[in-house]
Amino acid sequence: MRMGAYSAQRDGKERPGAMSDGSIDLIGEARTAAYALPLDQINPAQPALFQRDAIWPYFERLRKEDPVHYTAESEFGAYWSVTRYNDIMAVDTNHQVFSSDSLHGGIIIGGEPDPDGGSMFIAMDPPKHDVQRKTVSPAVSPANLQVLAPIIRERAGIILDSLPVGEPFDWVDKVSVELTTMTLATLFDFPFEERRKLTRWSDVITARPGHGVVETWAQKLAEIDECHAYFTRLWNERVNSSPAGDLISMLAHGETTRNMPAREYRGNVILLIVGGNDTTRNTITGSVLALNQNPDQYDKLRARRDLIPGMVSETIRWQTPLAHMRRTAVADFELQGRRIRKGDKVVMWYVSGNRDESVIEKADRFIIDRARPRMHLSFGFGIHRCVGNRLAELQLQIVWEEILARFPHIQVVGEPRRTFSTFVKGYESLPVVIPRRL
Ligand code: HEM
Repeated sequence: MRMGAYSAQRDGKERPGAMSDGSIDLIGEARTAAYALPLDQINPAQPALFQRDAIWPYFERLRKEDPVHYTAESEFGAYWSVTRYNDIMAVDTNHQVFSSDSLHGGIIIGGEPDPDGGSMFIAMDPPKHDVQRKTVSPAVSPANLQVLAPIIRERAGIILDSLPVGEPFDWVDKVSVELTTMTLATLFDFPFEERRKLTRWSDVITARPGHGVVETWAQKLAEIDECHAYFTRLWNERVNSSPAGDLISMLAHGETTRNMPAREYRGNVILLIVGGNDTTRNTITGSVLALNQNPDQYDKLRARRDLIPGMVSETIRWQTPLAHMRRTAVADFELQGRRIRKGDKVVMWYVSGNRDESVIEKADRFIIDRARPRMHLSFGFGIHRCVGNRLAELQLQIVWEEILARFPHIQVVGEPRRTFSTFVKGYESLPVVIPRRL
């Protein structure tokens, strides 16, 4: 593994040229490219930049030189990029002007306006959003998390105890995917032995055909249909049984959701599959990677387990598992002296706001004992703030308590393979070894 590339990431300030180990300085190259472009040609919505981890200098430049930036042409059409922490906060908390509704194009940069409106509550505006959110919230309430915690702990233990020692394996597949899928299956009361279907559907839903997960749009749609059919069957079973504490039963029996159109039920299922799966999975992987890139922080964590919650929040900031949320302006609005027009597409780049030096000290560094570790944008703000944020933190916290109780070191032994996406910021694989104890 080229650890040189990892250390170069830490402050993001290296200059182009060969590294001391003779390898090519990809970060330096990305920086040169980002600063060579005329400002008006900067288009951060390029999945390849995210996959190569080369996006940072583009955002660094925008934060400094053009924090509310207009890209006139991209594969997603024209859009605004909001790149600073406080400006993102201003957009996210102003749902009156910045709509999430699919009617206008929803919450991802590539979304097209849907005349039928939102089918999942993340892509709805009030009042419908608020009603549906309220129905599923009890599943992730503090009381329910207390019930879930011992189940997650037991499962984490089983997963970790089954890992090979002294030989390489893929951390994403064997730990991150397995743990988050088990938790999701529990939340849905999904047939446990078939839980990997949830992983597959989550991957398929967020995948672009032709980049490894599915080959064609037809294949993607066929697999999503399969997911819909499966969950329709579960709804029918649950609606004919007594109300229970799982998410499907809650929707099937909830006063405000039991008559929801089928497309809204399906939309919300997809929301919960993706929301609860990819994000947490990529944070678990990100934590192992970040601690390997920053061995001093790993040492600190080993010496002080009370730093686990801080490390978890720091990883969620550092990783930013969802790189952006998109809004559509429903009225003209002025931000940082730029005139956003009614109908414009506005992208809040959480991934950039989380590196805003004017708000977060040494924002490019991974520091597990920050004074205010939960100060980050990764869960969003305002009425759509992530409903599962405490569940995500709980899973991370438990998995790290169980890891440290078993293994002094998880060693990254190769380059991570990153996701080809401007939305899900994550990993397809991360090779690791658990060293044998002498
Ligand atoms: C580290 C893990 C996670 C991250 C980074 C994350 C991130 C986010 C973000 C950025 C939003 C939109 C916020 C906004 O628009 O202001 C969101 C919404 C949401 N998340 Fe999460 N999420 C995570 C884990 C989870 C989990 C475990 C669940 C499962 C229960 C979940 C379910 C949802 C739902 C249902 C919404 C829609 C909320 C609404 O529209 O009111 N998320 N999440």
